[in-house]
Amino acid sequence: MTNEESIHDTVSAAYASALERTRGGACPTTATLVSGLTDLAGYREERGRHAEAAASSFGCGHPLSFASVGEGDTVLDLGCGAGLDLLIAAEKVGPTGKVIGVDMTTAMVEEARAHAEGAGFADRVEVREGLIEELPVEDGCVDHVISNCVINLSPDKERVFAELARVLAAGGRFAISDLVVERLPSWIRMVPQAYAACVSGAIGEEAYLAGLRAAGLEDVTVIDRLVYTVEQIEALGGELLERVPVPRMVVRMGLKSVAGQVWSARITGRRP
Ligand SMILES: C[S@@+](CC[C@H](N)C(=O)[O-])C[C@H]1O[C@@H](n2cnc3c(N)ncnc32)[C@H](O)[C@@H]1O
Repeated sequence: MTNEESIHDTVSAAYASALERTRGGACPTTATLVSGLTDLAGYREERGRHAEAAASSFGCGHPLSFASVGEGDTVLDLGCGAGLDLLIAAEKVGPTGKVIGVDMTTAMVEEARAHAEGAGFADRVEVREGLIEELPVEDGCVDHVISNCVINLSPDKERVFAELARVLAAGGRFAISDLVVERLPSWIRMVPQAYAACVSGAIGEEAYLAGLRAAGLEDVTVIDRLVYTVEQIEALGGELLERVPVPRMVVRMGLKSVAGQVWSARITGRRP
């Protein structure tokens, strides 16, 4: 198994089990944690309308709140998870539009399909199982790419950015919410759970923007940032960080040292 395959497996297993914990019998702590995070990400309004999908969402922003998606558009969500953004996109594109979600975790794909069907959007939402490094999507067929807290998890961001550019139609736009990390103690990067918790796979903002530009994308701009407190980073990592095999106090000290160095960036741009 290559290093890349092993990262995909670890991340996929972590999200399958995180999803399991939010389903049906989610314990009150998990449910409160997830609802707190969806509020933080900016879904206060949609949480009422799409309660089930919101309860299993793991985003760090709300890409559709700053994407200019309209009626009839085709939208692709990289790492759609349980599908909250797919439902919001389906409302925006209407019956003449199309929404495609791609995710590598089978349980997430099944959950997203069930949510789309339950919300009455089976006519316009399609969920495909696959990797964002090898998108199962044709060249140039998408008006908008969105992604919410996913690309930081990829072991090959360069390929993801190239794929994003490949599938966008000329003039097509992207809206990404993702975690960026400026400085991180090296021991945190070595803990597998910290990778799945969206912390140690993350890169710095300048490198992120440079990667998008190198893929040929233009007008690449950070339109907003949410800089996390230590408590918020802990909440984002949630139970994944609780399973880190070092004492809780040491984890907290490590996290304190990264306060102000981790944020959710809202990034937009377009294909020329
Ligand atoms: C933090 S969750 C975010 C899910 C969703 N975007 C949301 O806002 O709830 C990360 C998701 O990305 C998926 N993912 C991570 N790396 C991926 C990859 N390389 N290819 C496809 N999906 C990936 C995981 O399976 C998981 O569902």
